[in-house]
Amino acid sequence: MIEINDVSFSYEGDNALNHISLKIEDGETVALMGSNGCGKSTLLKLINGIISPDSGSYKFDNQEINHKMLQDAKFGKSFHQKIGFVFQNSDTQLFCSVVYDEIAFGPRQMGMNEIEVDKRVNDCLTLLSIQDLKNRTPYHLSGGEKRKVAIACVLSLNPDVLVLDEPMNGLDPRTQRWLVEFLVQLSKAGKTLITSTHNLELVSEISNRAILFDEKHKIVADMPTEKLLEDIELLKKVNLVDEYYHSHEGNNGNGHKHFHDHN
Ligand SMILES: Nc1ncnc2c1ncn2[C@@H]1O[C@H](COP(=O)(O)OP(=O)(O)O)[C@@H](O)[C@H]1O
Ligand SMILES: [Mg+2]
Repeated sequence: MIEINDVSFSYEGDNALNHISLKIEDGETVALMGSNGCGKSTLLKLINGIISPDSGSYKFDNQEINHKMLQDAKFGKSFHQKIGFVFQNSDTQLFCSVVYDEIAFGPRQMGMNEIEVDKRVNDCLTLLSIQDLKNRTPYHLSGGEKRKVAIACVLSLNPDVLVLDEPMNGLDPRTQRWLVEFLVQLSKAGKTLITSTHNLELVSEISNRAILFDEKHKIVADMPTEKLLEDIELLKKVNLVDEYYHSHEGNNGNGHKHFHDHN
């Protein structure tokens, strides 16, 4: 479904992706991991067609994706319907004055009639249990509420692939737990999930496969998430856990609960 072949990308000379190749199949749950600045957000932007490779190629459903293709309105629409992006910072994603219009934005862009739009918006409000936010102003919501609205906006187009950039960031533990369960349900419903995260405690619940970047913007591991979490030396090497990491494996049989996260 997603095929990235030898892609490099730089921001004004600053390298952010260094010869990246990977394939993601329909229905997979993948976590992108690595320390700050390693290129996770850049790769997610590329997957969503916000940026195009400087070299190499990106194919989605066997179709090459680049700026030229996305300028074609019809193609752009169908691509954006299939893949939804939840930004790291919900404030950059939410721009309408009312939650209802925010969630209706995508369906309206796709040219749906208002009856269909209304159905979609209400379905999403219900799915996320945020019916009471319908007439609120996104700007005034809490961080957790904003994240739910941002997710509702993306789900309103019922995409096959959901891309989430550090979705746990800034959420309280209870909302993080809610989000984990919600993502698990989406995965069970057949969605492909691609998530960037620093959260070593929750990552194994939202992904089966982990792709690890080093600080040179290269992929250094692509393996089952559980396996990566056991490889402390590798996690140290890419600066994801620090020297003070200590496992409590002997005490409670669960070493993952005691990671010292850098962020
Ligand atoms: N808009 C931008 N302009 C210039 N450099 C950027 C921009 N966004 C990211 N970078 C740089 O690209 C590299 C990768 O960043 P990013 O993909 O945001 O990393 P991550 O999401 O893993 O923290 C970093 O060196 C970062 O400073
Ligand atoms: Mg990032």
